[in-house]
Amino acid sequence: MIKIGIIGSGYVGLATALTFGELGHEIICGDIDLEKVEQINIGKSPVHEAGFDEKLSQLISEGRLKATANILALAQDSEFIFICVDTPMGEDGSMDSSALEKVAETIAPNLNGQLVIIKSTTILGTARKIADKYNMNLCHNPEFLREGMALHDSLNPDRIVIGCDKPENGQRLMSLYENFNCSKLITNLETSEMIKYASNIFLATKITYANEMANICEIFGVDVYEVMEGVKLDKRISPQFLEAGAGFGGSCFPKDLNAMASAVKNRGYEPNLINSVLKTNESQPLRVIELLESEIGYLEGKKIAVLGLAFKEDSDDIRNSRAIPIVETLIQKDANLILYDPKATENFKNAGFENLEYANSLESALTGSDGAIIQTKWQEIRELKPSQIINLMNNPVIIDGRRALNPEKMLADGVKYLGIGWKNL
Ligand code: UDX
Repeated sequence: MIKIGIIGSGYVGLATALTFGELGHEIICGDIDLEKVEQINIGKSPVHEAGFDEKLSQLISEGRLKATANILALAQDSEFIFICVDTPMGEDGSMDSSALEKVAETIAPNLNGQLVIIKSTTILGTARKIADKYNMNLCHNPEFLREGMALHDSLNPDRIVIGCDKPENGQRLMSLYENFNCSKLITNLETSEMIKYASNIFLATKITYANEMANICEIFGVDVYEVMEGVKLDKRISPQFLEAGAGFGGSCFPKDLNAMASAVKNRGYEPNLINSVLKTNESQPLRVIELLESEIGYLEGKKIAVLGLAFKEDSDDIRNSRAIPIVETLIQKDANLILYDPKATENFKNAGFENLEYANSLESALTGSDGAIIQTKWQEIRELKPSQIINLMNNPVIIDGRRALNPEKMLADGVKYLGIGWKNL
């Protein structure tokens, strides 16, 4: 049993903690937020993720996991120290590494041969700067998990990438992953940092390609979802991340594309592809408003339900959710809004939308509405029946930004069902 300290108790930190706990190690979770520390110590995850509460409780009851706000003691007591703090987007789009640097500065005086591993996404050169400044044994080990699937992805990775300053540090970290049966790669610090950005830029571009195809398919009256079924049959194109709709959000893609664009612009390069992906992703959510207006005309005073506020299903995270530009535009157009999300309501309110009206069920959001926009593909939204829509809504108009429902079924049963990427009848 190895003692592993994990600093930062968000999605990445907790998934890492639970993964190494599952492998039989002893875990100390660290966070500066005392409330989070207390929550973790009673087996309650501060973030909504499948399996987190159960696994936390199990490891706590086995005496193999505890949380602390004392980062210094955590570092002293651990053989491996993972840093999983946020590297958020600064005002100008660049990466803000201040939280990461603060942690490094805090733990540096108490290190005595421990291996420090940065899991945070960092612009090239950041990890080496920290290693050199504090003379640390350091690796970069990017995390590729998806929110909502954090524990699953962390336990079943496609690959493990380790960037290291010295080969022996890379091998030392790889030994922790010896039981993982997946592709493994050891490289230098900068290449590892870049692998994370290059992966996220590719995936965001892939979604944006699907969204552009959706807009084009709509012009020609063909269904992008059927088109993609054919595209996916090409073995050179993996079938995932081709679901067209209102665009991507979340804590990673928008931040990472902006950070890379900002970093290279400062070095004199104009990243046209990244710029274009970001631009398309800003206009894409507004397409649902266009479709709504094309169907019901002016929105002023009309009761519009927004179904789903989280940036994706099975998550309570609203960071960069496409619900934000959708709701802001509906407010500008003086629509009478009613918002619904099964998990993300509190987070949405706290993001500056506390004065809006929120429904406590899908049914009550739909009741008396003149139109509804589907923004997140929650299971309960996918299970909506045409009869419910017709009975509850004042005007049964659904604009689907995620293709959550079956167009043929909806249209056949009298719902006016429109969406991004197919022939809107
Ligand atoms: C992403 C990466 O997938 C993950 O590898 C990285 O570590 C962090 O960033 P995450 O942001 O949690 O993960 O969610 P993801 O499932 O990738 O979805 C991101 C956004 O893209 C969501 O808003 C989702 O709705 C959207 N999306 C995803 C699409 O619009 N279409 C798709 O086909 C897939």
